[in-house]
Amino acid sequence: MRVHHHRNLPGVFAGRGSRIYDRTARTLLRGLYARIADDLVDVLPDGADVLDVGTGPGVLLTELARRRPDLHLVGVDLSADMVSAAQRNLSEFGGRATAQQGDVVDLPFAAGAFDLVVSSFSSHHWDDPAAAVPELARVLRPGGRLYVYDFGFAPFDVITETARSRGVFGSSPVRTSRIRTGVLCPRRCTRQVLTA
Ligand SMILES: C[S@@+](CC[C@H](N)C(=O)[O-])C[C@H]1O[C@@H](n2cnc3c(N)ncnc32)[C@H](O)[C@@H]1O
Repeated sequence: MRVHHHRNLPGVFAGRGSRIYDRTARTLLRGLYARIADDLVDVLPDGADVLDVGTGPGVLLTELARRRPDLHLVGVDLSADMVSAAQRNLSEFGGRATAQQGDVVDLPFAAGAFDLVVSSFSSHHWDDPAAAVPELARVLRPGGRLYVYDFGFAPFDVITETARSRGVFGSSPVRTSRIRTGVLCPRRCTRQVLTA
C-alpha cells in the first residue's frame, strides 16, 4: 500500500491537528454529517457495503451507523492519526463500522467490494484526483454510486473529465449540484454523483 504525506497541507491532519479536527467534527460540524447521511440513507439498499474515502474522524460514518444498523461501513484515510480518531468514534458500532489507513489512489479493497462510495471534504486534498477516479470506480459494484461532497473549488471538473475520457464509470450522466449543508460554515457545498 502506498501512503504518502500531504503535499498541500503537511501536518494539518496529524497529531494536534487531528485532535482539533476530531473535536470540531463531533460538535460544530455534526449537522453537516447528519445532512449528508440523510441524503445517502434514501439511496442505500438493505445491507449495503459503504466506503467513506478520506473519512477523517469518521463522524459521517457514525451518523450513517445510527440511522441504518443494516449497513456495513468502512472508512479509509491517509492519516494514521485520523484513522485512530475514527476507530475511537466508531468503536460503539463493533465490526459493522471500521476504519483503516489507505490512499484514494491505491485503495486496499477488492474490485466491486462496495455498493456506494462517499467522500466528504477530502477530494480537494487529493494529490492526484485524476488517478483517484479509476480507483474509486474499481471498488464499486456495477451500478454502484460515488457521492463526492466538497467545496466548489474541489477538483470536480477533473473527476468528471477523467471519468469521461477513461470510460471507467457507466454511461449515466454525472450529476453535479449545489446543496445546503445545514450548518453556518460552509452554508452550501457541491455534490457530485457518478454511477459505475
Ligand atoms: C478536511 S478532512 C475531511 C474529513 C471528513 N471526510 C469530513 O468530512 O470531515 C480531509 C481528509 O482527507 C484525508 N486525505 C487527504 N488525501 C487523501 C488521500 N490521498 N487518500 C485518503 N485520504 C486522504 C486527510 O487525511 C483528511 O483526513
